[in-house]
Amino acid sequence: MEIRVDSSGKLFEEAELKVVGIFQKDDAKSKKIPDIKEKELKTLFQSLKSSHTFGASLGERFFLNNTNGDSYLLIGLGNKKALSSEVLRKQVAAFIKSHLASAKSLAIDLDSFFSTQFERNANAVIEGALLSDYKFDKYKTSSQEQNLKEVSLKTTKKNASQLSKIVKNALPMIESMKLARDYATEVPNFLNSVKYASLVEQDVKKNLKGVKVKILNKADIKKERMELFLSVNAGSAYEPRLVHLTYTPKKKTRKMKHIALVGKGITFDTGGYSLKPSASIMGMKYDMAGSSTVYGAFRAAVLQGAPHKLTCIMAITDNAVSSKATFPDSVIKTRNGKTVEILNTDAEGRLALADALDYTCDLKPDVIFDAATLTGACLVALGDEVCGLMSNDESLVKSIKKAAQARDEYIWELPIVPEFRDHIKSKVADIKNIGKPMRAGTAVAGAFLQEFIKNGISWAHFDIAGVANNQDHLPYCTPGTASALMVRTMVEYIHNA
Ligand code: BES
Ligand code: MG
Ligand code: ZN
Repeated sequence: MEIRVDSSGKLFEEAELKVVGIFQKDDAKSKKIPDIKEKELKTLFQSLKSSHTFGASLGERFFLNNTNGDSYLLIGLGNKKALSSEVLRKQVAAFIKSHLASAKSLAIDLDSFFSTQFERNANAVIEGALLSDYKFDKYKTSSQEQNLKEVSLKTTKKNASQLSKIVKNALPMIESMKLARDYATEVPNFLNSVKYASLVEQDVKKNLKGVKVKILNKADIKKERMELFLSVNAGSAYEPRLVHLTYTPKKKTRKMKHIALVGKGITFDTGGYSLKPSASIMGMKYDMAGSSTVYGAFRAAVLQGAPHKLTCIMAITDNAVSSKATFPDSVIKTRNGKTVEILNTDAEGRLALADALDYTCDLKPDVIFDAATLTGACLVALGDEVCGLMSNDESLVKSIKKAAQARDEYIWELPIVPEFRDHIKSKVADIKNIGKPMRAGTAVAGAFLQEFIKNGISWAHFDIAGVANNQDHLPYCTPGTASALMVRTMVEYIHNA
């Protein structure tokens, strides 16, 4: 689907369907009546016998045709004061979704949808429109044709050039989010570690000019002494991969920071010998969503010409069962020299990440973000809707929360208190890979990761176990596919860092 800026109103005139946002008028005491600005449309509307059925409450829709053959869709936006960019994103996604199969072209009267915060709201409309047609149907032998090819946004001549800039900036973001969704939604019999790394390499070479690619294979990973990461791979039929990408901005400024993004890339998590029961093993193809999230964020930030040096690290393997898989009770030496007792092979994400984080610290970044579908406990604590955040730096948390708010994503901080260190003390090794049963599982996993962050580096951990998929409540996500949530928050942070 293509988006076009319509500064003359010509596309609006020609479109098969014209969409106009209508707010409720609150001055009519008890009866809510719609506030239709455009005179001709208002006259037409009032001439209809059925007009009393439409009150412009949020999400309400009303179709009407005039005698020239023009079709209008009125979208109720409710109370103007309650409107937010997320409400817009959802409303736009919802009506676009219901017209994907029918109309070829759809024209939105942008200025009827909001009158404040042009950049934020216009961006939300664009995201709502372009994210909503995402589908993953490569394995369907027949699928429904999408007719809707063009969405135009009508605005004033004065706003048009700003709108074009907003579109130009939004496109790489949306494209990168859709690619991240594709990777995470891919099935595990196709997307093994080797395949995944090579797909990423191809994408970088094709689309991210100037980005350095290094892919560590099993021998390289051994040389790096990443025994903990290798222990997760021990049962796999495929070699592990560590993808290492580097972007350096063309213009170097004194304010330039080095931000590293690290992702858990478990292409399938069986649990290993601590095997998951059938009900919880389903959906474990998404266990590499941390890596697709950080890749999506890296990709979007690079394409938008981010002003900071960026590193992207993806620790990729599956967690399989075989005679070679790691036994629970094993003790493994990590890259940083500590020993870890592996009491549960299903707590594998933190093992892969521990070595990857230690490796990343050696690159001396100012900030590290890691993203991982790390704990089921995160779903218990925060649901499918909210991303868990843990960090060693209060001011970093502040900036991340600000970024999340600006991009309408939900994030909530969980504390890592010093006492959690005691939860992961081992009797035979330095630490163990699980805490106490039913006790702060998400934050204790965060405490485990923190053991691998070297002094002076600001770090934040995003537990995306809930938000990575199952976002059926968001019309700009597609049921049965990954969400790519948190990509926008990370990119927003990078631009403001
Ligand atoms: N990949 C899972 C976490 C997960 C669970 C993500 C459900 C999405 C939905 C992770 O590797 C895992 O299995 N964690 C264990 C940790 C436990 C053994 C300490 C868990 O949450 O049960
Ligand atoms: Mg697991
Ligand atoms: Zn996992």
